[in-house]
Amino acid sequence: MKIKTNLFLLFCLSVCIVSCTKDKTSACDIDPSFAVDVQPFFDMYCVTCHESNSASGGVVLNDYNAVNNHINSSISEIEQGTMPPYGMPSPTTSEKDSILEILNCWVSMGKKDN
Ligand code: HEC
Repeated sequence: MKIKTNLFLLFCLSVCIVSCTKDKTSACDIDPSFAVDVQPFFDMYCVTCHESNSASGGVVLNDYNAVNNHINSSISEIEQGTMPPYGMPSPTTSEKDSILEILNCWVSMGKKDN
């Protein structure tokens, strides 16, 4: 009885370890490109107001260094739906989900200038 219980616990533990490890990798199984995946989104929805010569809120988002500096606040603005501001062209819900995955993975992959 005792052995069976221990074996059962061991089984549960290994299932947990396997699935947790799997979850971690599947959270970022993409390695986004800055030029192809990241900048075009900012160009489409953000640079009208966040360019070097019209930097709303002091935030510029039109090149690698600028995006690099403001990526965390940009992710949270997009997540909360506060940027782009109400009434401006905005991503659809599915575009929003996919760009958030891309941005978060771009950050965890080391914010490559690729
Ligand atoms: C219609 C113009 C406009 C567009 C389009 C726009 N923004 Fe903004 N943004 C502003 C203004 C104005 C502010 C400063 C006032 C404020 O924080 O609301 C601002 C502020 C910000 C800030 C700073 C917030 C803070 O609390 O310091 C971030 C980050 C930001 N925007 C990101 C973005 C991103 C990312 C996009 C595109 C998805 C975007 N913005 C699109 C006008 C815009």
